[in-house]
Amino acid sequence: MPLVIGVDSSTQSTTAVLVDTDDGSVVERRTAPHPDGTSVDPRAWLAAFDDAAGPLLPRADALSVAGQQHGMVALDAEGEPVHDALLWNDTRSSAAATELVAEMGGPERCAEEIGSVLVASFTSTKLRWLRDHAPEAATRVATVLLPHDYVSWHATGRRSAPFTDHGDASGTGYYATASRDWRPDLAAAALGHEVSLPRLVGPGDAGGETPEGVLVAAGTGDNMAAALGLNMGPGDLALSIGTSGVASSISTTPPADATGTVTGFADATGNFLPMATTLNAARILDLQCRLLDVDHEGLSRLALQSVPGAHGLTLLPYYGGERTPNRPAAVGTWHGLTPATTREDLARAAVEALLCSLADAADAVAAISGRPERVLLTGGGTRSEAVRALAPAVLGQDALLPADGDHVALGAARQAAWALLGGQAPPAWPLPIDHHLEGDPLTSVREAYALLRDRTAAWS
Ligand code: XUL
Repeated sequence: MPLVIGVDSSTQSTTAVLVDTDDGSVVERRTAPHPDGTSVDPRAWLAAFDDAAGPLLPRADALSVAGQQHGMVALDAEGEPVHDALLWNDTRSSAAATELVAEMGGPERCAEEIGSVLVASFTSTKLRWLRDHAPEAATRVATVLLPHDYVSWHATGRRSAPFTDHGDASGTGYYATASRDWRPDLAAAALGHEVSLPRLVGPGDAGGETPEGVLVAAGTGDNMAAALGLNMGPGDLALSIGTSGVASSISTTPPADATGTVTGFADATGNFLPMATTLNAARILDLQCRLLDVDHEGLSRLALQSVPGAHGLTLLPYYGGERTPNRPAAVGTWHGLTPATTREDLARAAVEALLCSLADAADAVAAISGRPERVLLTGGGTRSEAVRALAPAVLGQDALLPADGDHVALGAARQAAWALLGGQAPPAWPLPIDHHLEGDPLTSVREAYALLRDRTAAWS
């Protein structure tokens, strides 16, 4: 039973898991932290990779790196960074995004050409920012990589040209999701001159090997790897409650949502990964804990003591602005407070708001890939018993709760095993399910939420 390494080079840290290719079981797990901030010297990720994955390499036959999507790793002719990498959550390039969408002929044309409407997360907007705000560095850019490409290239000892996969490439803004190819003209238009882009490696293929002969698979973006780690296929919808809320599904046709709500990514298997992201997810519960002066367990207990609809109390939880729907300047809104409102109602409304916001993202994705047959609920927010109990009613559908795990690193390991073992599809590994969440749909909660959402649209 050969062993493979799956790496999750995320915003906060690197996690490396050594995995048995027979059944996907984790033999060893190591982590190393990353520096804080939304722009980071990308060489820190190489050091974290060496720390976390280095000691596992002698036991592995293959390796794959999944990374935070979109980050701009701009390198000079010697392969050294010309500037800190601007990450997916660095919003300095939002004006550049608006500018580039206009240059492409508007949101509809943009979605047609690349599969998504550009927002500040996309790499091309960061190249435009570099051109306008650090022109000296911009002129020295010879190659642009994504975080996972940069780490994979390091793993190969830089002995051949850098490579990437279609999934991560589809988050750059200079890749056409429908025709599955680079658009180097769009990279050049953003930066002001031509640059070299990494070689595109097909799903299941290897990009190179380490100096010691360990196969290095194509790697991919973290959301694509999570889909692999969750064994997702057409008909599945994954809802993740973390810092942000993410709804994603697998589609066999390329998405192109001109409203920009759903980003049209490629996945890591040759299909597509329509995705909607909310900015406010776990933080809704964090804030409510602070306001009520309870911990998460206490909040959950209070919420479960109220009733569906929290006696008419509704929260629109767009505390830090929102992306789904697109209301960057929005703030949170409470409606329905009365002299009879209780702490239980306040807790209940917060949990219902989190789930309603997630349900909106799920609907946007389902509008593209159809009503899901299976809903998988993941992320730290699912540790709340109230979230688990209320999810089926608010989402209008039963859901499965996979066991806690490093789904991104495991997805990368599955990709490494695929490159090593070959075949049409990645090896089938079991996905342990902790809970089957069941409940009758309760439309009144979502109706009250939708009313508040739509009535406040003009405020931000
Ligand atoms: C997706 C996105 C984030 C990052 C997080 O568009 O920006 O989910 O991939 O690492």
